[in-house]
Amino acid sequence: MTSRDDPGKHHQHRVFSASRAAHLDTWFRRVLYRPDHLAERYVGPGDRVLDFGCGPGFFTREFAKRVGDTGRVYAVDLQEEMLKIAKGKLESENLLSRVTTHQCRQDSIGLPSELNGTFDVAFAIFVVHEVPDPEKLFHEIAALLKPGGTFFFSEPPIIVPGREFEDKVRLAGESGFRPVDRSWFFVNRAATFKKEQVPG
Ligand SMILES: C[S@@+](CC[C@H](N)C(=O)[O-])C[C@H]1O[C@@H](n2cnc3c(N)ncnc32)[C@H](O)[C@@H]1O
Repeated sequence: MTSRDDPGKHHQHRVFSASRAAHLDTWFRRVLYRPDHLAERYVGPGDRVLDFGCGPGFFTREFAKRVGDTGRVYAVDLQEEMLKIAKGKLESENLLSRVTTHQCRQDSIGLPSELNGTFDVAFAIFVVHEVPDPEKLFHEIAALLKPGGTFFFSEPPIIVPGREFEDKVRLAGESGFRPVDRSWFFVNRAATFKKEQVPG
């Protein structure tokens, strides 16, 4: 069976090491990816936001600014060290009170089930290719979102070839999401979805 037949089973890429976290939070990345624009586009004041695979919080901080005091960001990562770095940066910008950090397992987000159906928007930026079971991940994200909630994911083109990205988009479409937009997130592949009213 090829990966095309079974899109959940692409070979897994290595987890981005926390020892290289500084590479994810640079002036160059800020200019290139404009995390402030991304937050403005998808996040509103008062929203509940999931930043899955948040790393050192490069995007998380902009989401936290945007949700304001009435919103909340859940920053989820596999690596404790990444969350520690993210917390330090959020604290130094007085944003930590708006953010819940959560260390997940490699095969499950593991947020409390009471949070299901309560998120307005979810992001998975440059992380899906590091996850062993993307289908399970998409189902978990769909469960966390409100009906009609937004899911944005982006993958780097060199690490994730076009065909693999197409398979992931199709997989998300079979996991409770309706694709609403395909774009380039600057130089990276990106897709935006809405959670279906009745989850798949
Ligand atoms: C390339 S970094 C991207 C970080 C951040 N989204 C950014 O773009 O600045 C990928 C992150 O995903 C996390 N990660 C990898 N596999 C994961 C998993 N199964 N569950 C949650 N996080 C995971 C890594 O620990 C790392 O922090």
